[in-house]
Amino acid sequence: MTLKAGIVGCGGISRSHAQAYTHLNNTSLVSLCDINPTVLDTRANEYGVKGRYTTFEEMFESEELDIVSICTHAPLHAPVTIAAAQAGVNVLCEKPLSINLQSADEMLAACTNAGVHLAVSHQYRFTPLFRQAKAWIQAGKIGALRGVREVGKGREAGFELMEMGVHYFDEMHFFMDDIEWIHAQVSYEGHPVSTDDIMHSSQLCKTDRRDNGLVAGDTMMIHIGGKNGTYGMIELYRRESTTGWLMGPHILGETGQIMIKPNPQNGIDEMWYCPFDVSFAAHTPQWELITPDEEAFLIDGKPWKARHSIWSVHDVVNAILKNRPPELGGKGALTSLECVSAVYESHFTERRVHLPMTDRRHPLVKRTALHVER
Ligand SMILES: NC(=O)c1ccc[n+]([C@@H]2O[C@H](COP(=O)([O-])OP(=O)(O)OC[C@H]3O[C@@H](n4cnc5c(N)ncnc54)[C@H](O)[C@@H]3O)[C@@H](O)[C@H]2O)c1
Repeated sequence: MTLKAGIVGCGGISRSHAQAYTHLNNTSLVSLCDINPTVLDTRANEYGVKGRYTTFEEMFESEELDIVSICTHAPLHAPVTIAAAQAGVNVLCEKPLSINLQSADEMLAACTNAGVHLAVSHQYRFTPLFRQAKAWIQAGKIGALRGVREVGKGREAGFELMEMGVHYFDEMHFFMDDIEWIHAQVSYEGHPVSTDDIMHSSQLCKTDRRDNGLVAGDTMMIHIGGKNGTYGMIELYRRESTTGWLMGPHILGETGQIMIKPNPQNGIDEMWYCPFDVSFAAHTPQWELITPDEEAFLIDGKPWKARHSIWSVHDVVNAILKNRPPELGGKGALTSLECVSAVYESHFTERRVHLPMTDRRHPLVKRTALHVER
């Protein structure tokens, strides 16, 4: 069986989804949509796609798709997902799932009612190095897991939370067998964030075009409580992009540690292992580069070594074909976005916030008169 795939939004990340659907044996990329006809034609010509639309409503009406990747900015994820669900199309939505939990709930309800999958594209967890790290943790290779640390790429924290932060929450979700609570402090220009510091993402971060709705703060320290009793820590703060490759989990166990970080030369992840958790460089044993079997990187005959979207696409396609839920579907698709809300709620209430959140209103939206598109 060949699944017919479409993509809405033909910008940067859509290339990665297009590569996935054209490579996989069981999928065919049949239609693309972008409001910008030049961008649409460029991407469609690149992948030889005939179905071309400038509105997603028209695309869902005219095509009989099995799966759609939603690659627009976050404020459009909910309306496009709901339209796809109403047309009976399975959804793989780019992160962040949406700009608030209320619309994310509506996305999940629409997909559940229509009997289609809703999955979010946090592809890192599906890559062979993340799988190998998890297998090592489960096998006791680093002793009892103590925690996972992450650092942002250097953009202002409120913006970064919606870009890399949600990926990091998913990493924690993966390594800690789910997230129980969040405790966070957020500051802006050296003072604790107040309601006066809530602003649109384009005002906070002027170096990135993506719309992430309302945000706050240039610096964040986030503590995460894992279901398996372990702790996570995410630091997001502004710094020069030359040090951007700090991203990637540092996993600490009682008898060893693992780092998965992109090689600064080629951006491809490497996994390193060190038998002890010792802070002083001089007393730390040599780090060892770990390379899984080449076979682990193969998808339909080709190796995929980067954190490529094909890893998420592959899981959802298999879910549809094998009639099982996607690994990051259903309520699990909402977890990383719930963490975003929990960060702000924790900061403003100065307490630990447990998931799932009962108040689904956005903690910034409910504290400001600023308007933001849902
Ligand atoms: N998973 C990842 O690792 C990863 C990496 C990069 C980006 N992303 C996410 O992907 C999303 C898109 O990011 P990007 O960098 O590709 O953005 P982009 O700005 O490059 O592309 C967005 C595209 O959406 C189009 N668009 C706008 N309104 C539309 C509409 N109504 N209908 C159809 N198309 C419309 C724009 O014309 C543009 O071409 C963001 O949510 C971003 O966070 C995820």
